[in-house]
Amino acid sequence: MTDNKTSPTLLIHAIRKAPQYIHTIQPPLFRASTIIFQSTAHLFDRHWTDAYDYSYGTHGTPTTYTLGDQLAQLEGGKYCLLAPSGLSAINLVNSTFLSQGDEVWVPDNIYGPNMEHLRNLQQRYGIIVKVYNPIDADSFAPSAKTKLIWLEAAGSVTLEFPDLKNLVKKAQQASVLTALDNTWGAGLAFNAFDFSDEHLTIDITVHALTKYPSGGGDILMGSVITQDQTLHHQLFKMHATQGICVSGDDSAQITRSLPHMYLRYQQQAESAKVLLEWLKQQSEFTQVLHPTDPNSPGHEYWKEICIDGKSAGLVSVIFNSKYDMHAIRRFCDALTLFKLGFSWGGPMSLVMLYDLKHMRVLPNTHLQQGLLVRFCIGLESAQDLIQDIQNALKQLK
Ligand SMILES: Cc1ncc(COP(=O)(O)O)c(C=O)c1O
Repeated sequence: MTDNKTSPTLLIHAIRKAPQYIHTIQPPLFRASTIIFQSTAHLFDRHWTDAYDYSYGTHGTPTTYTLGDQLAQLEGGKYCLLAPSGLSAINLVNSTFLSQGDEVWVPDNIYGPNMEHLRNLQQRYGIIVKVYNPIDADSFAPSAKTKLIWLEAAGSVTLEFPDLKNLVKKAQQASVLTALDNTWGAGLAFNAFDFSDEHLTIDITVHALTKYPSGGGDILMGSVITQDQTLHHQLFKMHATQGICVSGDDSAQITRSLPHMYLRYQQQAESAKVLLEWLKQQSEFTQVLHPTDPNSPGHEYWKEICIDGKSAGLVSVIFNSKYDMHAIRRFCDALTLFKLGFSWGGPMSLVMLYDLKHMRVLPNTHLQQGLLVRFCIGLESAQDLIQDIQNALKQLK
């Protein structure tokens, strides 16, 4: 830059290159809408399906690709696309692979907003939504119209671990795409792209990075991961043309949280198991749901797939049906450490109440009648959390 430039120009065209390259624990952060091409040759030589398409901020920067590559590696996939929330990642899969008249199968314990999105597609584009019981693979009956099956392992409210092996085998036989919401497993509990003794593989995983990868309860993001280049290109095209993108700052925050995700996941799972044992002793509950428990629906499937007994930090309880909504609300309002709020995977324990009557399509044989409360275990001491629940249970009397 020459000295004869005036101040307004110098304020914009300052020399911004650091004098030397340094190694840091965290990678440098890039924020970009515009990405400057070195020449018209670079502009015209780029190809939008390139893995690293540095042409505009919506397509990605080194900061977003660094995070995506690390997540793909963690989950055992090859390609990763980032979306502004877990729900947006789910919707990317639905809008890429479902066209008018196609059939999609979802588990009865599906993440609610995914079902709402699919119902919306059903009304507007005639997409057929069919529901299966995740612990009964026979209830999944694909037809020639079936394009996609959604899987959740485990379901995020009632925590049934699905019969993943038989559901995936059946889908593969019928050439149906498999999409797994892998938020619970977080790429740590099992390898979605190579699970079971038969080395079965999921086609697409979706992960609400909002939960464990963020770990702070303060950032929203989602990922869509595949091993297959053709599937990735289809998703990439929809991602690029819909303008789905994430900020460099949020990506850097998640990259910063990943190194301690394993420890957080493990700690929350340990505390959840301590709570599980205590909750099982309390007379107010008719069912305590956690995949590691032999009485929990889908326990046998969890056992055959999850590595070294791994599980996440969610536990749900079904209250004796003599307790009505007023009583359960008194219980939730009396908790002091468990805060009332959606989501999980952050430092603070959370609680949420559900009435399953309004959430299920199929008749339930594996769940008791009664209102359900889900505890998302944070990083507090398990004993303090038990004490909090014990105090709040007094409100039921
Ligand atoms: C299982 C599951 N999948 C996806 C999502 C959506 O993630 P987000 O909150 O980032 O949209 C959630 C959020 O609660 C979830 O529990």
